[in-house]
Amino acid sequence: MVDDDIRGSLEAILPQLDERPLFGLILGSGLSDLAEVVENALVVETSDLPGYPHGTVQGHQGRLVFGRLEGVPIVFVQGRLHMYEGHSLSSATFPIRLLAALGVSRMIVTNAAGGIRASFAPGTLMWITDHINMAFRGPHTNRTPDRRSHPYDLNWTKRAKSIADELGIQTEEGTYIWTLGPSYETRAEIRMFAGLGADAVGMSTVPEVLEASQRGIKVLGLSTITNHAAGLGHESLNHEEVLEVGRQVKTKLQQLIRALVRDTESH
Ligand code: HPA
Repeated sequence: MVDDDIRGSLEAILPQLDERPLFGLILGSGLSDLAEVVENALVVETSDLPGYPHGTVQGHQGRLVFGRLEGVPIVFVQGRLHMYEGHSLSSATFPIRLLAALGVSRMIVTNAAGGIRASFAPGTLMWITDHINMAFRGPHTNRTPDRRSHPYDLNWTKRAKSIADELGIQTEEGTYIWTLGPSYETRAEIRMFAGLGADAVGMSTVPEVLEASQRGIKVLGLSTITNHAAGLGHESLNHEEVLEVGRQVKTKLQQLIRALVRDTESH
């Protein structure tokens, strides 16, 4: 079933596509440039799509980039919609619901996150194996069964880790904790989060992953650690360093995404 609010966007996109995307990529802060890998790109400005919510955050321009990668029809979403911008849950999950309606069945959700585990220096790549919802919100569902207590595809994650190993790209696994933001956490909050078992902290991803998994989309989550979380590194956190680390890991991530997309053809 297609939600009413995405119908206008869907109708605007479909006539422009030669084929429907199977694979989706949500690009986090500082990671928009990853979409450069798309071949024969069709770039759709989200401001041209009826009903598509508008984002405001620097490093998050609103575009959908359709095309192929390694022979697989794909769509990259540039310009994530955060709840701290004032978006409701249904706005924040709009891109996911649109991708699901377009036929996407696998999705990699990326983000920038603060490292809580002491060994997570800026530049660390972490597969998200589980999350803690510290915003205590989540998309409503009346679907059964409710798949949302295990939203990350752990078989795919395991495979992804071994693909990264083969490429010589070091990756870690861990638990992501979602805060509403937009303020960075206090040192006391980070101490609490560490005690709860969180390895990385960020202000996104969880609503999208809950929505996608509930719609039967296989989800792989990947955090780029852009800074030590509050109290664990230098004193002041800022958005510019988040963007800078994104630029530094770009080539590695592009290589990894390419290999992951190629691999999904085989299983
Ligand atoms: N906290 C929350 N969100 C973030 C951080 C952080 O330290 N770094 C990047 N996104």
